[in-house]
Amino acid sequence: MNNRVPILSTQSIFKSYRQGTENLKILNGVSFDLMPGDRVAIVGRSGSGKSTLLHLLAGLDDLDSGSIKVGGMPLSGLSPDARAAVRMRYMGFIYQQHHLLPEFDALENICMPLRLSGSGKQEADKLGKELLERVGLGDRANHKPSELSGGERQRVALARAVISKPDLVLADEPTGNLDEENAASAIELLLELTINSGSSILMVTHDHSLLSGFDRVLELSAGFLSEASGVG
Ligand SMILES: Nc1ncnc2c1ncn2[C@@H]1O[C@H](COP(=O)(O)OP(=O)(O)O)[C@@H](O)[C@H]1O
Ligand SMILES: [Mg+2]
Repeated sequence: MNNRVPILSTQSIFKSYRQGTENLKILNGVSFDLMPGDRVAIVGRSGSGKSTLLHLLAGLDDLDSGSIKVGGMPLSGLSPDARAAVRMRYMGFIYQQHHLLPEFDALENICMPLRLSGSGKQEADKLGKELLERVGLGDRANHKPSELSGGERQRVALARAVISKPDLVLADEPTGNLDEENAASAIELLLELTINSGSSILMVTHDHSLLSGFDRVLELSAGFLSEASGVG
């Protein structure tokens, strides 16, 4: 991809939810660009609209107005199927809950994005095993999610998010269910993995203690994004 094209570009995103007769305004004109290789965190209190914003960026929900471009191409305005194709091609995801598939083991979960995009099992397994080693779980390949600790499950989820070398990794409070020590090491690992996969990272969190490794920190408040002060 041309390095001067933002991997993600948003213009004036507005989003509200109708709740009975009320209109809850959540995003009131959010604009920002994310360049290839950028490591950006967005902080905001619970309820400030962080997950809403990430869902929109992933094409999982419709904007009221504004635009989102991924790799220079419009995402907003596409059909849900076309948005899913963009998501698969460009993005990896990490959620607060690991969202691993319970019936598959660690290696199968990690390899899932490659398998879904048509890679053969051998090729996927090779990359999956390398990543398992890199996240320190080389000896847990055949453990199901229920046979892993919380920190281990989230490390599997980190590996899964980068295996297809996506241009962009979106992370929604990825350490929200971890204790302090596991949270800090998961963020370190996340940054290391995204450097290795050449992915930009956009993480949203309410936790100001996790921001030191990011190049840029923005704050979401009252539906607006601004440069965060006094963090990092
Ligand atoms: N589907 C929905 N319908 C109505 N209100 C919603 C919906 N999803 C979220 N909200 C409201 O929007 C606000 C922002 O939610 P969210 O984006 O989940 O915040 P955050 O992730 O920052 O905690 C909250 O007040 C929440 O109650
Ligand atoms: Mg949230």
